Amino acid sequence: MYAKFHSIGAYVPSKILTNQDLEKMVDTSDEWIVKRTGIKERHIAEEHEVTSDMGAKAGAKAIQRAGLEAKDIDLVVCATVTPDYFNMPSTACIISTKLGICNVQAFDISAACSGFVYALSVAKAFVESGMKKHVLIIGAEKFSSIVDYTDRGTCILFGDGAGAAVISATDDKSEAIIDIHASADGSYADFLVTPAPGSVHPFSQKSLDEGLNFVKMKGNETFKLAVKTLTQDVKHILEKNHISSSDIPHFIPHQANYRIIKAVGDALHMKEEQVVLTVHKYGNTSAASIPMAINDIYESKRLQKGELMLLDTFGGGLTWASAIVPFAGAGLED
Ligand code: UT7
Repeated sequence: MYAKFHSIGAYVPSKILTNQDLEKMVDTSDEWIVKRTGIKERHIAEEHEVTSDMGAKAGAKAIQRAGLEAKDIDLVVCATVTPDYFNMPSTACIISTKLGICNVQAFDISAACSGFVYALSVAKAFVESGMKKHVLIIGAEKFSSIVDYTDRGTCILFGDGAGAAVISATDDKSEAIIDIHASADGSYADFLVTPAPGSVHPFSQKSLDEGLNFVKMKGNETFKLAVKTLTQDVKHILEKNHISSSDIPHFIPHQANYRIIKAVGDALHMKEEQVVLTVHKYGNTSAASIPMAINDIYESKRLQKGELMLLDTFGGGLTWASAIVPFAGAGLED
C-alpha cells in the first residue's frame, strides 16, 4: 500500500494588515519590510474567528476536492502552535466535529512551521501501514494571537490562515509520495519560543506583565540557520532519490522571508518559475504556509496531476523537513 497526496484546500481570512498599517503601529517602514522580507501584506483572522474555524474551512475544501465525504476520513491530524486551547481539547478534535467527522482518531502536532510536513509524514506512515485509508492533515494558525504588535522584529512577519490535504491509500506506485525527511534539534529551542504558559512559566499575572505569552525570536540567528538547513536538507533528499532540482516543476519552500527563499533557490540552481512564492501576500503563516502555497498554485491552475512538488520547511524547535510529492489530485474544474 502507498500513500498519495490526494487533494488540497485552504482558507485565507479576509482582513488584511498592510505594511502601511504596521507603520502606524511600530517604528518601521514599508520600504524596510519589503527589502528585508519581501512581505507586503498578511491576512489576520477576526477576533471571533479561531484556528479550528480556519482549519475546518480548509479541510472541507480538501475533502470535497478529493471527491470524498466526512464519513470517509479515518484520521485527522492538525499541525498548529496556536491551538484553540492551550492544553486540551486538541484543535484536531474540534475541527473533526465542525466537519461532521465522527468517532475517528484526531490529534495535534506541534512542530511550528514544519508542522504540515511532519503531519504529512505521520499520514504517510498510517496509510502505508494499512491502519488508515483517508487521512485529513491540516496546518492552521491564528498567529496573530501570539504576536506582540509592539515588537517590530516579529509583528511584521506573521499572518493567519489554514491549509489542508487528504492523504489516501493507493496501490499505484506512480502516484505515491516519494520520500519525506523530517528532523529536529532542541539545542536551538530558544531561537523561536513562546515562553508562557507552560510548565516552565505556568499562567500568572507576572508572565502576562512580562509579555511571555508572545512569540520571541532570534531573527538573525534563525535566518542564517534556516538558509543552511533548508539547502542541505533538499540536497540530501534529492540526491537520495536520484532526482535533479531541474526535474522539479514546483519548489515549495516555507514562506518565512523572500531573502531566505531566494538564497536557498539560488543554492539549488532553481529557476524563478520553479519557486512558489506567496510570502508577499500572506507573510509567514507557520504550519499553514506550505499548504496555502500549494493551494495557491492549484487554484491558479499551475499545479497539474502527476507533477512533482518539492516541499522544504524549518521552524521553531528547531524543526525542519523536506518531501518529494507528486500531486495525485484531480485538476480544478472551471
Ligand atoms: O518560520 C521561521 C521563523 N522565522 C524566520 O524565518 C525569521 C528569520 N529572520 C528574518 O526573517 C530576519 O532576521 C528579520 C526580518 C526578522 C530581520 O531582518 P535582518 O536583516 O536579520 O535584520 P536584523 O535583525 O539584523 O536587524 C537589522 C536592523 C536593526 O537595527 P540596528 O541594530 O542595525 O540599528 C534592527 O533593530 O533593523 C532593525 N529592525 C527594523 N527596522 C525597521 C528590525 N526590525 C525592524 C523593522 N523595521 N520591522
